[in-house]
Amino acid sequence: MKKITIVGTGYVGLVTGAGLSDFGNEVTCVDISKTKINDLKNGIIPIYEPGLDELILKNTNSGRLKFSTNIEHSIQNCEVVFIAVGTPEKENGEADLSSVRSVAKTIAKNITNYVVVCTKSTVPVGTGAMIVNYINQNKKNDIQFDYVSNPEFLREGSAVRDFLWPDRIVIGARTTDAYSVMEDIYKPLYRNKKPIILTNIETAEMIKYSANAFLALKISYINEVANLCEKVGADVHQVAIGMGQDGRISSKFLHPGPGFGGSCFPKDTKAFSILSEKHGISMKTIDAAIDINEVQKVRMFDKLNKLLKFNLNNKTISILGLSFKPNTDDVRESPAIYMIKMIIENNGFVNAFDPVANDAMKVQFPKINYFDSWKDCCKNADVVVIMTEWNEFRGIDLKVLKKVLKNPCILDTRNIFSINKLNEYGFIFDNVGRNNIK
Ligand code: UGA
Repeated sequence: MKKITIVGTGYVGLVTGAGLSDFGNEVTCVDISKTKINDLKNGIIPIYEPGLDELILKNTNSGRLKFSTNIEHSIQNCEVVFIAVGTPEKENGEADLSSVRSVAKTIAKNITNYVVVCTKSTVPVGTGAMIVNYINQNKKNDIQFDYVSNPEFLREGSAVRDFLWPDRIVIGARTTDAYSVMEDIYKPLYRNKKPIILTNIETAEMIKYSANAFLALKISYINEVANLCEKVGADVHQVAIGMGQDGRISSKFLHPGPGFGGSCFPKDTKAFSILSEKHGISMKTIDAAIDINEVQKVRMFDKLNKLLKFNLNNKTISILGLSFKPNTDDVRESPAIYMIKMIIENNGFVNAFDPVANDAMKVQFPKINYFDSWKDCCKNADVVVIMTEWNEFRGIDLKVLKKVLKNPCILDTRNIFSINKLNEYGFIFDNVGRNNIK
């Protein structure tokens, strides 16, 4: 078991820190934000992630997980340092590596023993080589280090589960020492015979982007199929089931909707495309997936417009679901953002409710009306739009919903309601790839 420092206490850093301490390692999560670290020391978790509070509490109580702002000290006293800082999108679509570079500099200045420097953040292919050069140029003494690329495949909302029971672990390195340090860290998973891919740094970096871009492509594909289903009278869910039975395709990530959002797919697809351009390769499939995703958001607004007979003026539109997917309060690149923006531009009124993401959306849209329950949010509204498939919304009693609305009108961008039930209760509705407006 190893002494580990994790730099960055965002969702990747925290889940990794909690998970690795749960495997028996001695972990210190460090961050430059004093408030964040103080909160964490007091048991306040900055993100909503099911199961994370319990995992952090369990491991802080056992003394295996600690939090600190003293980055230098933590680096000087560990065997492995993980870089888990943000790589946000720059204006030109590239990944912004300034935080990664700054951590690399701190590492270079503070290496006192042989250490393995491992990147968890999603970084463009070639970043590992850049970090190695950077540390070599800036380090103050002759102490050796190894570099590892160990990308994460965590989904927000089920990140703890994904960490503890992963499909695979990818370790990109150049030396057997580095492989064996990483094998030691992930020992419980090795014992469980989880597939471990030992490869070089560039391949590991490439696996991360190729996987995310492929999943995004799958979603854009099914969204296009859904659009055609609407025209030809087919049901996209049955199409997806029929396709998914083929093991080569699999039914996962074939749910149509308002387009993918979040902090990963939109950013990673763009960064992947830019990377390929830089190398003189065009990734037409990925560029298409990005374009289709933008068009899908517009299509959803067009559907709303049609339901309201192209007049949103003074209409009240209830938006149920603000996060980019259920079980998270993350609203980054959420398709709800475009929808709200367009409603406001067209002089409609927005009522909004999300089980956990109201506060996060208030930062972007402070002036729309937020509610604490779906029922209050839908009172006297002209139409309700489902933007996120929270279980709470799946359980909505359509009879009750019809009573509270001014008009029985629904745009279900996540296809959570049964068409038969919607027809039975006399709703006017639209969805994605299942039926045209009745
Ligand atoms: C994604 C990947 O799934 C993770 O494996 C990866 O580690 C992570 O990015 C990352 O790079 O950090 P995440 O962004 O948390 O995870 O969320 P997903 O569950 O992948 O969903 C992304 C978006 O696609 C959501 O807006 C979701 O609603 C949408 N989606 C997903 C669909 O519209 N249809 C689907 O069938 C699946």
